[in-house]
Amino acid sequence: MKAVRLRDNIWWVGGIDWDLRNFHGYLTQRGSTYNAYLIIDKKITLIDNVKHYLYDEMIERISEIIDPTRIDYLIQNHVEMDHSGGMPKLMKLLPNARIFTNANGIKGLKLHYKEDWNFREIKTGDTINIGSRNLVFVTTPMVHWPDNMVTYCPEEKILFSNDAFGQHIASSERLASDYPLSIVMEEARKYYANIVLPYSPQVQKVLTIVADLEIGMICPSHGLIWTEHIPQIIQAYHTWAYNESEADRALIIYDTMWRSTEMIAHAIQNAFENLGIHTRMLNLQHNHISDIMTDVISARYICLGSPTLNSSILPNVAAFAYYLKGLAPKKRIGLAFGSYGWGGQSIPILHHLLGDPKECGFDMMEPVKVQYIPDADTLKGITKQIEQNINNKMEKP
Ligand code: FEO
Repeated sequence: MKAVRLRDNIWWVGGIDWDLRNFHGYLTQRGSTYNAYLIIDKKITLIDNVKHYLYDEMIERISEIIDPTRIDYLIQNHVEMDHSGGMPKLMKLLPNARIFTNANGIKGLKLHYKEDWNFREIKTGDTINIGSRNLVFVTTPMVHWPDNMVTYCPEEKILFSNDAFGQHIASSERLASDYPLSIVMEEARKYYANIVLPYSPQVQKVLTIVADLEIGMICPSHGLIWTEHIPQIIQAYHTWAYNESEADRALIIYDTMWRSTEMIAHAIQNAFENLGIHTRMLNLQHNHISDIMTDVISARYICLGSPTLNSSILPNVAAFAYYLKGLAPKKRIGLAFGSYGWGGQSIPILHHLLGDPKECGFDMMEPVKVQYIPDADTLKGITKQIEQNINNKMEKP
């Protein structure tokens, strides 16, 4: 595939990772891209880079446009190796190129590659002139690492947003407007839920900065480029960053040993259904934790169930609970449930993992526990109890 012209003298020259299926635990069923952007101006500038094994692909694309040794400036918006892995080879070609990044970027790149390249430290608001264009830098620490920043070109109204506004999609299309919008938005939601969510307070600050910019194009470092639907993706980020979940959505997430916990899960589902609340039943044996997170981002109610196994919870449930805690959704209502034989420890463990302020910190409903196998009356009683609990939560101001 060739370099893709985005504007006069501005090109996409990144790499496409068609086969990527796992991004440190996040299932990337559609692959991904690592986007790099070449600006031909008085100073030839490359913004961002690619994973190490796509370096040759990037160089091939750059070579269609110019001799890569003519690049003067590198803008490194992020240290993480999906966006910097090609640097050691590139710097052999360009030993004198200036690398513009912030103090955390310089520190991180030195710690990764043990090289003292020609770094130029920039701070928020700093601008460099590359000829007929200027590039303005805004540091965005923790969206997604301490070194993250975005680069804005006022003359082109382009925001090079790095990890923000990205999606893991490998495709021959480069623009979001050329791809089914519902899939791009769903992948952007999954990306936010699995990568960006814990840094929502920092995203809120970025959104304040973005609100003051005139933006005609958002060039993220993963997936498709936004030329249309820009207000839509910014509004979606606002919703996600402020943890605005939907009051009529509930997730019932569980694993089960002899189906007793599953029976409880269905009794809980009946309660939500009776109150007109949409539910998803998510058995952890059949649903990946990173796909479940995509639903967590919208759902107000998070119910988590496990039978007691060895005085604890089932391993699938533990994996999900710790993944959930790390991604730190806020302002949710939680419910712990499960069956047990004699000890019954799984239910207080889940109640603690969901409700303790040092864990997920959700507003908890009364937990549900059943010894061995629930009978029909017990299941009806659970439905009634949960309906009452939901009504109580709804009545709260
Ligand atoms: Fe796509 Fe934080 O790297």
